[in-house]
Amino acid sequence: MRQKGFTIWFTGLPSSGKSTLARLVQQALDEVGLDVVVLDGDEIRQRLSKDLGFSKEGREENIRRIAYVAKLLTKIGGIAIVAAISPYRESRERARMEIGDFVEVFVDCPLPVCMQRDVKGLYLKANRGEIQNFTGISDPYEPPADPDIIVRTDQESPEASLKKILAKLAELRYFPRSLVKHLVNDKPDPVKVKKTGMMLGQPWSV
Ligand SMILES: Nc1ncnc2c1ncn2[C@@H]1O[C@H](COP(=O)(O)OP(=O)(O)OP(=O)(O)O)[C@@H](O)[C@H]1O
Ligand SMILES: [Mg+2]
Repeated sequence: MRQKGFTIWFTGLPSSGKSTLARLVQQALDEVGLDVVVLDGDEIRQRLSKDLGFSKEGREENIRRIAYVAKLLTKIGGIAIVAAISPYRESRERARMEIGDFVEVFVDCPLPVCMQRDVKGLYLKANRGEIQNFTGISDPYEPPADPDIIVRTDQESPEASLKKILAKLAELRYFPRSLVKHLVNDKPDPVKVKKTGMMLGQPWSV
């Protein structure tokens, strides 16, 4: 039977962790034999949207193109993972309507932490006024009102965020939980095991 297609849509500020998590989810789903494609904002801007700028219209058109490709992949039973700032709520809602099987992940990270990470050095340039229309500094970011998943990347590790995402996808029945059990279920905490041993009066297990 063909796998059920869906789109995972990561949205968040620059340096919030979208690409990092997209790659981790891709790797995890790929390992269990699912068909996954990542549509990363940076690559799309280099290829599919090279002609577009960063005005509201340019950004909306970029998202419209990404959503169209994601829809086609989803329709044939693929898994499309989108990692794009996608700052406008309305554009993301249009993508959701078009794609249908759409899981929005809000990559939530406070602006000061993103600025400190500044993975590409662009916050520095934006703050110096060397680049215009930079999301979070000189351009708006509209957080999702009701995302399917929220990951707090300033508070949790990438691995913890990955587990949360996989667990939710299984809960939404995009694949059986048993498929990703080895990634989602925590191994027993050795400290707890030792404490239990002490409680049971078995000092040799301490
Ligand atoms: N829980 C987490 N999830 C994802 N990234 C995290 C997390 N905790 C820390 N990080 C770090 O945050 C940084 C996020 O960078 P990344 O390139 O993924 O951001 P991005 O959202 O794709 O940015 P951009 O919009 O500029 O492409 C990485 O250095 C990553 O290691
Ligand atoms: Mg990125």
